[in-house]
Amino acid sequence: TLDGFDHYMLKEIYEQPVAIRNAMRGRLDDQNATAIFGGLNLTPQQLRSVDRIILTGCGTSWHSALVGEYLLEEFARIPVEVEYASELRYRNPPIDPGTLVFGITQSGETADTLAALVETKRKGHRTLAINNVVGSSIAQAADGGVYLHAGPEIGVASTKAYTSQCCTLAMLALYFGRLRHLSYEAGQTYIKNLRLLPAAVEQSLSCDVQVRQIAEKYQSASTFLYLGRQYNFPTALEGALKLKEISYIHAEGYPAAEMKHGPIALVDTDTPSVFIVPRGTTYEKVIANMEEVKARGGPIIAVTCQANPAIDDLADDVIRVPAIPEYLQPIVSVVPLQLLAYHVALLRGCDVDKPRNLAKSVTVE
Ligand code: F6R
Repeated sequence: TLDGFDHYMLKEIYEQPVAIRNAMRGRLDDQNATAIFGGLNLTPQQLRSVDRIILTGCGTSWHSALVGEYLLEEFARIPVEVEYASELRYRNPPIDPGTLVFGITQSGETADTLAALVETKRKGHRTLAINNVVGSSIAQAADGGVYLHAGPEIGVASTKAYTSQCCTLAMLALYFGRLRHLSYEAGQTYIKNLRLLPAAVEQSLSCDVQVRQIAEKYQSASTFLYLGRQYNFPTALEGALKLKEISYIHAEGYPAAEMKHGPIALVDTDTPSVFIVPRGTTYEKVIANMEEVKARGGPIIAVTCQANPAIDDLADDVIRVPAIPEYLQPIVSVVPLQLLAYHVALLRGCDVDKPRNLAKSVTVE
């Protein structure tokens, strides 16, 4: 049921604080400063010997894989590759024996993701699923895995499954980190930060009314750019995908610094750029990218954390989300982008829960 919401997508956006809490329930081990996963079906020795990880999936799940890559490389120091499942299944890449393959999927029924897992498993690699739907084909095909516990996702555009996937990957990074070099103390801090997530996501929902006004302003645009860096580069891709799939407006997500290698040619007074610029290592550099857009008359929407006069000057609209450590920020920063896509699509009269040409699970290749 819709529980008083106008659409499933909106309901599922609002369910995110609870979904994230459910993804973490019973999985944070304070005693050992690590995460606990019941269904990996691999011994600590087998997991300790993993020296390479492949994360594969499609669409939004592929975006959460990108967030996972940053997390696992930073905290577990394991080299990670992110592969489109549709490419991996036919590409026949050399894979080392110590490689663990994760299939990331909301539905657990995506044909390409299933085929990529089955193919890598056939070659003798260990495969795990990060999956929402219990008992799905992919969950059955993998050696083990982690369920998201996000509850049913009905809207075709994935929202709560995405943030739950990112949260699950953050817990996996902690887990693999603690099997290796990550200290007890660092593990404790990491857990403390994970616990900040539900409230931070809850608070980020309060931008809804403001985002609706921004959507009214830009509903007739024919192209949007989404720009972010580091942990928020995948957020830019995800924001662009949400907008294009439900509002049918062309949108591109880019790492902000890549802008000057091409996409900046698209900037004009009718093309809004959405900058995801929360804080962190490349903060000043993204602000410099904003200046370049501003100099060409491009409207700017900024998603950021704290008040910053430079951003307030440059941006036409500033959406503030709560500050949280950089590596968890994508889970918070994506929320206004989900809402922006929702409101723009609604204003344009689109069927937000059932966009044209799309199916909830893509069971054909
Ligand atoms: C986008 C969207 C799709 C799915 C993709 C993979 O909002 O929903 O891009 O993410 O089709 O689906 P799952 O995660 O079920 O494998």
